[in-house]
Amino acid sequence: MIIRAKTKYLFDKFVLTEEQKRNSEKNIAEAEASKTILESAPRRLVLELTNACNLNCMMCGREAAKFTPTVFSLDWLKKFEPIFTKIEEVALFGWGEPTVHPKFREILAYFDKFPVRKYFCTNGMRLGELEDAIFDHHVDIIAVSLDGATAETNNRIRRGDDFEKITRDLRSIVAHKRATGGVQALPELRILRHAVKPA
Ligand SMILES: C[S@@+](CC[C@H](N)C(=O)[O-])C[C@H]1O[C@@H](n2cnc3c(N)ncnc32)[C@H](O)[C@@H]1O
Ligand code: SF4
Repeated sequence: MIIRAKTKYLFDKFVLTEEQKRNSEKNIAEAEASKTILESAPRRLVLELTNACNLNCMMCGREAAKFTPTVFSLDWLKKFEPIFTKIEEVALFGWGEPTVHPKFREILAYFDKFPVRKYFCTNGMRLGELEDAIFDHHVDIIAVSLDGATAETNNRIRRGDDFEKITRDLRSIVAHKRATGGVQALPELRILRHAVKPA
């Protein structure tokens, strides 16, 4: 297995447990010492839940190679469980759309038993259906990918997308946040925009 740290800068406004702090300090020290065998657990675990998707965006790297379709097996969670009180964050995405995983809700519920930050990046098409699970299972950060400030531009690039539905569902999540803990409440919402050269 190859483990590669892409960054040492993770979201930093979140409160960590003492066990997480100790692990993170050790992990940073081991990385800075260029250790190849680490005693610490990683700070962030990235789980690609599936490489399947409900869209077909024109720039997506999924199209660049022939992928064997994958669906993340929940059996892996048991194997990784010993580190879930130590790591800071679980990032639930890779290539593909994580929210189409048939057990996406169960995965959120599972991680809600641990102090770990739950973060996923999504095309946003299932946010409306998942709003209850997002709040019930205390998702911390959601990044929504959009490729245009208008429905016309976005839906042309993100083929199969529905800009109006996504912005409506995002407004509903923001209203839900306001009704519970204000706009500072979780989940933190981020919009990912990618510059695509106009055709
Ligand atoms: C691969 S997607 C997976 C999550 C989800 N399906 C989404 O679109 O947000 C993660 C991010 O990678 C971006 N992306 C897609 N194709 C890319 C490419 N060829 N190069 C760089 N980023 C890309 C997407 O726009 C998205 O923001
Ligand atoms: S929604 Fe995400 S995974 Fe799906 S095609 Fe678009 S960029 Fe790729």
